Amino acid sequence: MRIIVGITGGIAAYKAPELVRQLKKRGHEVRCAATAHALEFVTRPTLETVSEAPLYCDLFAGNAHGTEHISLKDWAELLVVAPATANIIGKAASGIADDALSTLLLAMAPERVLLAPAMNSQMWAHPAVQRNLQQLKAWGMRTVGPAEGALACGTNGPGRMAEPTEIADAVANGERKAVGGKWLVTAGPTYEKIDSVRFIGNYSSGKMGFALAEALAEAGADVELVSGPTHLTVSHPRIRRTDVESAREMYAAATALWPTCQGAILSAAVADYRPATQADHKLKKQGSDGMTLELVQNPDILATLGSSKQTGQRLVGFALETNDELQNAEKKLQRKNLDYIVLNSLRDAGAGFGVDTNKVTILSADGSRTESPLMSKREIARLIVQEVT
Ligand code: PMT
Repeated sequence: MRIIVGITGGIAAYKAPELVRQLKKRGHEVRCAATAHALEFVTRPTLETVSEAPLYCDLFAGNAHGTEHISLKDWAELLVVAPATANIIGKAASGIADDALSTLLLAMAPERVLLAPAMNSQMWAHPAVQRNLQQLKAWGMRTVGPAEGALACGTNGPGRMAEPTEIADAVANGERKAVGGKWLVTAGPTYEKIDSVRFIGNYSSGKMGFALAEALAEAGADVELVSGPTHLTVSHPRIRRTDVESAREMYAAATALWPTCQGAILSAAVADYRPATQADHKLKKQGSDGMTLELVQNPDILATLGSSKQTGQRLVGFALETNDELQNAEKKLQRKNLDYIVLNSLRDAGAGFGVDTNKVTILSADGSRTESPLMSKREIARLIVQEVT
């Protein structure tokens, strides 16, 4: 994508070169525009070096007719203003164009603008700033952040500019389709109790499922995340989390939520078996003999959802395989009445349990296949969301 990064005069301007670097690393073509005050915080040579393009900061320099804002708006697919001060937000909401960047902002179609506000908390809370932002959003501008945290003025609170990675993610999201309705996601392992101190578990960390929940929420869905034991946390306000321990608890939570959901992605590594009995005390060693544990089957959550699937509901399963991967995944896709199955193989280095990366093949019920390279679980999650929604 062709992106202009517009920088205004706030301390967070020092992060602008890093944002430019990240956008370029993701394959975007980037140019910079800055206000005079922005250049008090970050220098022209820095911005021109990271963007590998001349900086736009003077309405008349390089173009005596002062029409560069028009050629730039024709060139750019997106204008990201980071940081966006209260001043530029106010100017944009009022249609004021008194320098290069504010003129460019007025020339751009609002839906092609992403603002990353950054200011002191009290300025952020001011009704004028909030009203101005509401107006800009109503016209179609998107915003990312601000975050809460320590501010340059020495206080703590909302007003910190979103990190360059989050801004680059928000840019990426703008290119993706939106997802509506409520989606169910299962994540993590299940623990099947043997006694009060031992259980049968597996190596799932929950990373894949949590990334899916975040990707769905980022795309606009309301997410019901049913998670087995994990240390992970969620931050997105559209994710509602239910913590469970065993397969039977996950089954109860997922089957109760399913009728209210438009779709479900079941990425949890659910134990197929549990001990037939669970002692409520610590089992003692019995002499020098071995010990036999009797196991009984757990309910199959995915198959249960598949058998009660209504028209319009989308059901996506995972398949973790070690051999005959495609054949096994295809069998599960059909047997469990799925729309898609996401296959990951433990034979692929960097894929599967615990790691931050994965490599998947998405098989659809209509026979299409999408193969991913090894990517971060966040990126894999976004790919899955784009494919299956
Ligand atoms: O959590 P991470 O460390 O990030 O690891 C991610 C992962 C490897 C756990 C994930 O990518 C993955 O592959 N999840 C599915 C693991 C699994 O149990 O696969 P399966 O082939 O045994 O199960 C097939 C499908 O049926 C899965 O969608 C599973 O959630 C579901 N299932 C299985 C058994 C059961 N009783 N109920 C189910 O719903």
